[in-house]
Amino acid sequence: MKIGIVGAGNIGSALAMQLTKLGHSVHIANSRGPETLKDVAEKTGATPVTIQEAASHGEIIVVTIPLKNIPDLPKDLFANVPENVPVIDTSNYYPILRDGRMPELETGDLTESEWVQQHLGRKVVKVFNNIHAEHIPTKGLPKGTAGRVALPVASDDAAAKQKVMALVEELGFDAVDDGSLHESWRQQPGTPAYGADLTADKLTGLFEKLGPKRTEAQHAEYLANHAKLEREMAAKSSS
Ligand SMILES: NC(=O)c1ccc[n+]([C@@H]2O[C@H](COP(=O)([O-])OP(=O)(O)OC[C@H]3O[C@@H](n4cnc5c(N)ncnc54)[C@H](OP(=O)(O)O)[C@@H]3O)[C@@H](O)[C@H]2O)c1
Repeated sequence: MKIGIVGAGNIGSALAMQLTKLGHSVHIANSRGPETLKDVAEKTGATPVTIQEAASHGEIIVVTIPLKNIPDLPKDLFANVPENVPVIDTSNYYPILRDGRMPELETGDLTESEWVQQHLGRKVVKVFNNIHAEHIPTKGLPKGTAGRVALPVASDDAAAKQKVMALVEELGFDAVDDGSLHESWRQQPGTPAYGADLTADKLTGLFEKLGPKRTEAQHAEYLANHAKLEREMAAKSSS
């Protein structure tokens, strides 16, 4: 497949490397231009391009940039991208370490990817947000292997979700349907699924237990869990 990636950091580069290994044609972009991506190209085998070229290279597009930068993307980035091309969103909200407070993400009405979807003006598929970037090349296993890590996939577009779930399987992970984008709070930071590398059985069981609707108590608990994690990460990086 032709796959375009907007964002060439931890996740963009890890995905590019694995996808080129699988034989896909990957075009990758950052904010500073293709001339700054020589090292990434060498490491991943992907072709450096502009963000417009990455967004139009494709059967699948991945947007993987810091959440706070999503509104900086050109409003017409996907204007000429056919409706049947899935746009993957890998975002997480890191208010303390990176993004600053976004009150609209703290009321519990919107999930993080619903906010991204509103800004992009385009339906998105949420996936790859709850696995560490370094686990993408190291934790993939053939289908059927015991202990294979599962990744949740959420979207309001059923066809796009199916196409992305097939890609997740190809990358060596079980794809677990996490429902609509409004239900994707279950894979956000602070939840038991976040960064936990659970198997499909465990992840499915967890989602059944949590149910589709986030309660106020759950929302408060997960925000607090994530704030604790962010503070620990900040302390670690300053020590
Ligand atoms: N790191 C992880 O393990 C991990 C795991 C799961 C999900 N995530 C989430 O995935 C997203 C990306 O994370 P990351 O760790 O890969 O980020 P990162 O390493 O900081 O890389 C960010 C990339 O986005 C590019 N970028 C920033 N603003 C842009 C813009 N306006 N237009 C085009 N490109 C832009 C940057 O390009 P320049 O360098 O040129 O500015 C850079 O290539 C975040 O929401 C993060 O929370 C991360």
